[in-house]
Amino acid sequence: MVRPFAQQGLFRRLVADNNRGIVAPARKSNIAKALRCEIENIRDRFIGTDRIVKILDVGCGDMGIAEILIQQIQGIEITCVDTYAPPVDEASSLRWFKYHQFDGKRLPFGDAEFDISMCVDVLHHAGSEGVGTLLHEMLRTSRFLVVKDHFETGLISRKLLQFADFYGNWGYGVNIPKQYFREDTWKQVIMNAGLDELRRINSVQIHGKIFSVIFPPRLHYISVMTKRKNGESSNT
Ligand SMILES: C[S@@+](CC[C@H](N)C(=O)[O-])C[C@H]1O[C@@H](n2cnc3c(N)ncnc32)[C@H](O)[C@@H]1O
Repeated sequence: MVRPFAQQGLFRRLVADNNRGIVAPARKSNIAKALRCEIENIRDRFIGTDRIVKILDVGCGDMGIAEILIQQIQGIEITCVDTYAPPVDEASSLRWFKYHQFDGKRLPFGDAEFDISMCVDVLHHAGSEGVGTLLHEMLRTSRFLVVKDHFETGLISRKLLQFADFYGNWGYGVNIPKQYFREDTWKQVIMNAGLDELRRINSVQIHGKIFSVIFPPRLHYISVMTKRKNGESSNT
């Protein structure tokens, strides 16, 4: 995603290929299933079904999750953004029309251009300053935020998550974080960003079989947020 394979070492490539073949398809499908539920909830409760729901996928990766959602939910439109340049050979293909490269800080869209910004397994890669910046930008461009990320509960879960990030992302040149959110640090992040958490799912089934024993559902959460009434962000 970040660098073309041709510029990467053989080991990185092997790790990425292995993950792509074994874990990634089930992961994407299970995350899409969980997000679909939240998107449909937001649509039914707050937006209505009489118009297209506009969604921004921030840190979309290979756009796999966005594409599952487009197939599964009627009446949505998804725009994808990430920090990498689209592959040259595929850049002109139809599927890249929905993709925009950006600098990882300022989203190239106007205020309130989207109904929902979603962000899947991105924030823990962004660093503490980057998290605030991204949430601020997502809130500027969208009325609702749907974030999927990880909670660590101690050293063992941190090491497991680092291993999962190594397996899933290192092959693409994505950094491995030194630590992950905990419930208390996540609450602080939300507070600093001027957000209200409407709903949290603290346990999300992402992997099947042996992988769900190693990376259990409690390491994954989804947070649905909107602007806090009279909420001041400290990230502006
Ligand atoms: C673990 S991948 C997740 C990709 C996709 N959301 C998914 O779940 O399949 C993390 C992604 O975050 C992107 N990323 C890292 N920092 C970012 C930032 N500041 N803004 C946007 N995307 C970022 C990386 O390029 C990478 O594609």
